[in-house]
Amino acid sequence: MFDIDNIRNDFPILKQIVNEKPLIYFDSGATSQKPQVVIDSLKHFYTNSNSNVHRGIHTLGDRATIAYENSRNKLANFINAQAKEIVWTKGATESLNLLAHGLSNILKPGDVILISALEHHANIVPWQQLCANTGAILKVIPLDESSQAIELNTAQQLIDLHKPKILSISHASNALGNIQPITDIIKYSKKYKTVTVIDGAQAFMHLRPDMITLDCDFYVFSAHKALGPTGLGGLYGKYEQLNALPVYQTGGEMIKSVSFEETVFAQAPGKFEAGTPNISGVIAFGCAIDYMNKIDFSEQKAYENELFVYLQQQLENISGIELYGDLVQNIGTISFNYKKEHPFDIATLLDQYGIAVRVGSHCTQPLMKSLNIDGTVRISLAFYNTKNEIQQFITHLKQCLSLLD
Ligand code: ALA
Repeated sequence: MFDIDNIRNDFPILKQIVNEKPLIYFDSGATSQKPQVVIDSLKHFYTNSNSNVHRGIHTLGDRATIAYENSRNKLANFINAQAKEIVWTKGATESLNLLAHGLSNILKPGDVILISALEHHANIVPWQQLCANTGAILKVIPLDESSQAIELNTAQQLIDLHKPKILSISHASNALGNIQPITDIIKYSKKYKTVTVIDGAQAFMHLRPDMITLDCDFYVFSAHKALGPTGLGGLYGKYEQLNALPVYQTGGEMIKSVSFEETVFAQAPGKFEAGTPNISGVIAFGCAIDYMNKIDFSEQKAYENELFVYLQQQLENISGIELYGDLVQNIGTISFNYKKEHPFDIATLLDQYGIAVRVGSHCTQPLMKSLNIDGTVRISLAFYNTKNEIQQFITHLKQCLSLLD
């Protein structure tokens, strides 16, 4: 059973007092908090097993290698993929850069890369750079003005019009929380053999993606937004396509053989993991996956949705507040503004009450432009938040807004 008290006990940081108030952490979109098992894993690794992987013929080296590869297996099971289809990277951003680099050889001048208006800069800039280098053209599925979401029909029309070589779209928006209709978009793109890339950074923890069901070609995510440590992420790719990508970084570990005349690269995933990887991070992320597996997913989803609906209702009751985005298909993130007040002022006042939110353009400047705003206050919830925290937040928010009026 989903027991929120037990869950909160697993996250030591949530017991903290900030500015003389109990911390209310509403910034899980920026990074999730970490359960004790993940924190303990990092300490345990450096205390007991610290050693490099895939190198030493000694006990510690074996121990580290087994634990490192075991995390790959755990992740593969979690997303319904094969271990060889998973590359460890330093985050979703690096995974997208790896793809933008690797997919250059399928493009010729005039080919289209299609993204959506809700993308994070990390899912815009690498493709822009790729266009600059290849003569390909970046096209954007626009935001529907009334729904403030991507409409499937519009996406389908643009896919028909441009027959894109690559389509890269977020599973869920980091700024607004919208869950995008990616399953239908991926299916539709198959008409033109479009390579489909999904940015799952925000969705991973809330939606637990299944690679067989989604049937995308590539899926990227960051561990730190899914209970894991920072500096680690992943790239899933259907094996044949993944293995066909050219190498990204070169050096030790990613080779089969090296002479001064030539180098033979390893097969995927090894060929994309040059140098010493984030071993402790990968092992700790394996513990984060174990932790998620212990929580019943349907109960987690129902609980997160309950919090989201409650927060939405409470905010809608405050006159002068404007909410943005799709408030039905949503991972539990709400962006808002209050009258003409600057979001930074609201967040600074909230911080005095120990409440952590993110403000600004959320690395989505083009999206903010589509919404005709400079930025928002963003609340991004997670399953370790509570209704009581939302009540506290609303009380303090009203106090902050009255100071600004
Ligand atoms: N991309 C992260 C966010 O949305 C940092 O806050």
